[in-house]
This record gives sequence, structure tokens and C-alpha cells, in this order.
Amino acid sequence: MNFNYNKVFNFKETLKNDDLKFFVKNGYVVYRDLYNKSEFGKAKQFLLNKYSILKKKFNSKKNKIDSWKLAAEISENFENSNISINMYKSGKLLEILKKYLGPDICVFNKKCSYIVDPAFKNYSTKLSPHVDGWVGNSVEMLQVNTFVTKADKFNSMIFYPGSHLFGLLPVKNRELDKKIKLNIKPIALDKIQEGDVLIFHPLILHGTKISNKNKKFRFSIGDRFKSFEKSLSSQESSLGYKVLCAGPINHIKRIIGNDYLLPFRVLGGKAGISAINKDIYEYLD
Ligand SMILES: [Fe+2]
Repeated sequence: MNFNYNKVFNFKETLKNDDLKFFVKNGYVVYRDLYNKSEFGKAKQFLLNKYSILKKKFNSKKNKIDSWKLAAEISENFENSNISINMYKSGKLLEILKKYLGPDICVFNKKCSYIVDPAFKNYSTKLSPHVDGWVGNSVEMLQVNTFVTKADKFNSMIFYPGSHLFGLLPVKNRELDKKIKLNIKPIALDKIQEGDVLIFHPLILHGTKISNKNKKFRFSIGDRFKSFEKSLSSQESSLGYKVLCAGPINHIKRIIGNDYLLPFRVLGGKAGISAINKDIYEYLD
């Protein structure tokens, strides 16, 4: 393989859009130091604390642990706290996402927690190679994973670089149709630091790195981001979303107030919008 598949971009390196070139070619890209350290620290503490509480609860039960159920409970708690939104809005994440999605960005509900825990028998939220587009992620959205802990080539994720460029790969029983020979060697992400952000395309073939050699705990959070001005797939509609930021054109539509552009709603009064949306419409006085 003649490219450094473990290339990590810091914000300064993105000014020439080398991150976008890497993404278009390979289908994924890793960023470092995008979040404000303190906001990321709060999120990490919240998530790992929740996990240790739930781990005790689930471990004490005799019945089989449902890893995905436990992970979903953590995700829901995180999603309903301000900690997750504060983290996404901190630092440079939105500036990077705007390069892909434009200025009107939302995050979908039902984020995922991905946990590999060698110390907790039978616990892992692993996924064999798959394409997110198979389950309804549209091609106009981005999957964004935040590594809450470090990860290496034994417990991170695998990618088939460039497989997104073949279009939607054929699926049979939730796996790549065995008749298809891609002729691409999967790579495993390595030397991932906590707080690293991985962005990947909904058509790339990817999965959890599953290895018997792994001895380390790994926790990451998976999110889906999109422009809320684009039409939604049926899955995206059913997930629902939270708006993170809105661009100037959307501001003007909101001031006018309705999709029929009914004139003069604000004539003679203040050209403003409801105060409850103030955190999103930051370009208004
Ligand atoms: Fe996936």
C-alpha cells in the first residue's frame, strides 16, 4: 500500500484541504485536537463513569449481557445531557464539518457507543465488515466517530480504502455478497489518541478490528452529521436530529418565518426570531 493510511490531520494541516483530498480518495480521514480539551474531558468522564456503573449492574445479573443494550443506554444518557452538544460545538469540529456539509448542520439522534472491553467477558459491540448505506445512511451524510480512549491496530476499526468509490456494494444477509472480489486489503487504524475524530463516507466497507491479541479497552462514540437543508432518507427521518449551527441563508429564511416567504411578517417590528433558538442563530443581534 503506497499511502500512509494512519495519517492524522491537525487543524493547521487542513488549511490546504489535504484532509478532503485524503477523504475523497480513501473514504475516511482522522483528525486530532479538534475538541476543546475541557469539553472533551467532561464527555470522557461522563461516558466512562456511566459505563463503569452499568457494567456492575449488568455483571451482577445472571442472564446473558446484551452489549448493544448496555451501549444504547450510555448513548441515550450522553445524548440527553448538554455534555455531548457542548463537546461538538467546542473547538474546531464544526469548522471541519462545514467543509463537507455546508453551514447548516445537524446531528442525528440515536448515536452509538462502541466498546471493546477485554476485562468484561463476552462484552463487545463489534461489527463485521459492512456498509452504513445498507441500513439507510444517505450519501449526503457523514459518519463521525470520536475515540474516547486510545485505540490501536488490535482494537480499532478496519477500512477498505477506496471501496466507497465503487458505489453501493451488494449485500447478502448483512454481509458483502461473497461473489464480489474487491481486491482491496483492509487496513486497521493504529496509534489513535483519545479525542481523535474519524470521519468516513457511508459507502465505505468497514468494521470493528477483532483480534485475539487485543488486551486493551476501547470506547468510541459514533454520530451521524448532515446538512438539515438536504432531504432525509427514511432512516434519517425516523432518527430525528438536533441542529448544531445554521448558515446566513437559513437565518434569512427563519426571519421571514415561513416556507411560503409570506411578505412583511416583520414589517414595522424587529426582524428577529424566537429567543429560544438564539444558540443556533448566532448571526443575529
Ligand atoms: Fe458502520
